[in-house]
Amino acid sequence: METLDLPPLLSAAGSVRLPGSKSISNRVLLLAALAEGTSEIHDLLSSDDVDRMLEALSALGVRWEALDAPGRFRVHGVGGPFPVKAADLFLGNAGTAFRPLTAALALSGGHYQLSGVPRMHERPIGDLVDGLREIGARVDYQGNAGFPPLAIAPGEIRPGGVVHVRGDVSSQFLTALLMALPLTGVETRIEVVGELISKPYIEITLALMQRFGVAVVRDGWRAFTVPGGVRYRAPGDIYVEGDASSASYFLAAGAIGGGPLRVEGVGRGSIQGDVRFAEALEAIGARITMGDNWIEASKPDVGGLKAFDLDLNHIPDAAMTLAIAALFADGPCRLRNIASWRVKETDRISAMATELRKVGATVEEGADYLVVEPPARFVRGVIDTYDDHRMAMCFSLVTLGNTEVRINDPKCVNKTFPRYFEAFAAVTRSVPVIAIDGPSASGKGTVAAAVAEALGYHHLDSGSLYRLVALAGMRGEVALDDEARLARLAETLPARFEAGRILLGGEDVTDAIREEACSVGASKVAALPAVRDALTLRQRAYRRAPGLVAEGRDMGSVIFPDAGLKIFLTASARVRAERRHKQLLEKGMAANMEGLIRDLEERDRRDAARAVAPLRQLDDALLLDTSGMGVTEAVEFVLAAARAS
Ligand code: DC
Repeated sequence: METLDLPPLLSAAGSVRLPGSKSISNRVLLLAALAEGTSEIHDLLSSDDVDRMLEALSALGVRWEALDAPGRFRVHGVGGPFPVKAADLFLGNAGTAFRPLTAALALSGGHYQLSGVPRMHERPIGDLVDGLREIGARVDYQGNAGFPPLAIAPGEIRPGGVVHVRGDVSSQFLTALLMALPLTGVETRIEVVGELISKPYIEITLALMQRFGVAVVRDGWRAFTVPGGVRYRAPGDIYVEGDASSASYFLAAGAIGGGPLRVEGVGRGSIQGDVRFAEALEAIGARITMGDNWIEASKPDVGGLKAFDLDLNHIPDAAMTLAIAALFADGPCRLRNIASWRVKETDRISAMATELRKVGATVEEGADYLVVEPPARFVRGVIDTYDDHRMAMCFSLVTLGNTEVRINDPKCVNKTFPRYFEAFAAVTRSVPVIAIDGPSASGKGTVAAAVAEALGYHHLDSGSLYRLVALAGMRGEVALDDEARLARLAETLPARFEAGRILLGGEDVTDAIREEACSVGASKVAALPAVRDALTLRQRAYRRAPGLVAEGRDMGSVIFPDAGLKIFLTASARVRAERRHKQLLEKGMAANMEGLIRDLEERDRRDAARAVAPLRQLDDALLLDTSGMGVTEAVEFVLAAARAS
């Protein structure tokens, strides 16, 4: 499976242009298709769910064209029911396509099959089907009763009827009926049974129907009358607002990571209920400012986000982002009235509880609520995303807790925000890493330590980890080519770095790991891929605020490929031999210059030729040749480059 490793972050600030709203995009497409006349849609979302709708419309005989500008589409409305009277539609996991098309096709007088991915077939649709049957539509279940896939046949639509629909499972059933009923040509009354959830989504539906010329008469939230003898009429140009649910990730990032972080595309004038996420964020301490078409969030003036207990029924999607914000609050937080989470892309209550626990939170899960207690310290988590775009986007925010996060199957964001991770990276600053590599005896260790000291950064001497594995292996009588056992050793290595000393299980081995036997051993174990894998996470864990200087072979390529500064530090073999010669003499050891040069050149060749993590200057690394340079000058060079990077 594909994974994405997100680095720990220092802060979030900047400005993001939001992609178009999914809810609005798919509603506008359907209304434009059913309308008389041509609609020119601006800023349509580009995503899987919208693609499913566009494909379905083509299959149903609706002509549309993508125009030159991104997100610009022309739809030639058919002015009534769909002209194609038989079709087999695959709608993926797009609820915003499946439900409204079911209703519109049930009233189109044709034979249609609708199916989706397995998860779509677990998402209830029975309440909508019951409502449609009530006025004479013929809709049959192809699998389990109450769930897709569906088969639709021409029905005898009874005029002037009353349709009952439950409001407490998904508001999309009501949305689907509202949008489809004008196709019958007769006045129909919809009565909502039970409490209507997610009301703001119904407001979007009504506002858009109005734009297309159909005014629904609303009687509180209990009944809706769709007038007879009306037709949708294309409004000419229509603009899709930015996605308010997607805005929530950036607003939360600003509130947690400093800000100001501005989202453009939604604001005070938005018809989307999820803009009210900003109010919730403000209620827990964030600073929020708003214009007609933008919202900006910053962290509280004093302290962090406050613990909360909120009814979130009105913003079910954006509420997921509050479950993540809870990780950064000053006490346990309760998210109430969120039962609809259980029938979304996945069972979001259960998925959220499971993944929040992975990063260190204590979570209580109820039928329709969650209580999230923030972790004392974040734990690096490998996050499963359940084919749910919002799970992936939400958990990117955990990196603001100064921890790395791995997102499994990150492409699930394609459902609504294909470029999410790029947009997120553009407005966040990760904990900086300076990666330094170079040949043996180049002085990279000395320079790396001095640079770390000067910047107040952490320092990772990755070579010492390989040396420690070799030492632990030799002591435990593990053969240095026993890859599996050495990898296990590497994973559980009881090593600590303290005040310039290196401890293994409490024993000071600073000098022992520098001995020749350990050098030879280290170079053997370093050639074993399983050992390298086992050390990867351990090395990444060194990346903490305010920054890290990481020294060693694959620091800039495998461990921290996103390092902001990469240095390849080298010197001629003669200069390196001279340095080594001097060190040996100081230790009272015999040394021979010509022998040392030969050894170094030999080692360079071996290092450069080896299959696993060979020594080479990365394309994006700066070359620092210290042949004619002292340590101070080399350190200055790196510091200057760090300032410039
Ligand atoms: O830098 P050093 O001499 O302490 O490294 C010890 C061994 O480990 C050497 O053979 C290079 C290897 N090594 C590696 O393969 N990858 C690293 N990131 C660091 C060191």
